[in-house]
Amino acid sequence: MFGSIAGRYDVANSFLSMGIHKWWRRVLASHWRDLPRDRPVLDLCSGTGDVLFDLEKHFDSALGADFCLPMLQRGRERRPSSHFLQADALQLPFQSASFQLVTVSFGIRNVESLERGLSEIYRVLEPEGRVLILEFGQPKNVLWRALFNWYSQYVMPLLGGVLTGNRAAYEYLPETSRLFPCGGDFVTILQRAGFGDVHYSSLSGGIAYLYRAKRPGKV
Ligand SMILES: C[S@@+](CC[C@H](N)C(=O)[O-])C[C@H]1O[C@@H](n2cnc3c(N)ncnc32)[C@H](O)[C@@H]1O
Repeated sequence: MFGSIAGRYDVANSFLSMGIHKWWRRVLASHWRDLPRDRPVLDLCSGTGDVLFDLEKHFDSALGADFCLPMLQRGRERRPSSHFLQADALQLPFQSASFQLVTVSFGIRNVESLERGLSEIYRVLEPEGRVLILEFGQPKNVLWRALFNWYSQYVMPLLGGVLTGNRAAYEYLPETSRLFPCGGDFVTILQRAGFGDVHYSSLSGGIAYLYRAKRPGKV
């Protein structure tokens, strides 16, 4: 599915979010500025590279990993000097404790086994390493939620279909957002996966959520 929308994915993102995704990504970036430049970081489910390109501004060694070749190819076209790797989040080709930071933006809900994906993130993080996850959720306010659900159920498939030629993808993506656990529920899932120091903030009234957690150090 991602392969079929890769060429128009970025245009559709900007259009459908009315540019707001850029602000969400800035909030994400504000949570890694205190980390040292010189240790490796990974952007998982990197798609066409938006977060990877932000990581490169701060870190000397940043890698984007995604299993969808057309998304990676689009990313490489956008910035040939960036480091993209084809890899499955369920079986990462990295040694344990390889990264000080793993980011996942709007990708974790698409990973077939959330439990396995989180355990792989945990494994490749250094002790005390940080994971930052940006993902869609559900607004808590009833009116805002109704408006957002109307937009994502009716407007997004229509516009997404026109922009990418794949209406079904833009029916599927909002549906997965609606069903995905958010806020406190996702915090519990992160804690069960072994992460500590788990926090979240809701963005734009709960349309998106940013989760921050750490792999605990040695006890
Ligand atoms: C909605 S896109 C998000 C892309 C990018 N992170 C962004 O913020 O625009 C979700 C991405 O997750 C990738 N993905 C889904 N499951 C994956 C898996 N098991 N392993 C690697 N990548 C995966 C898809 O190929 C797709 O590029």
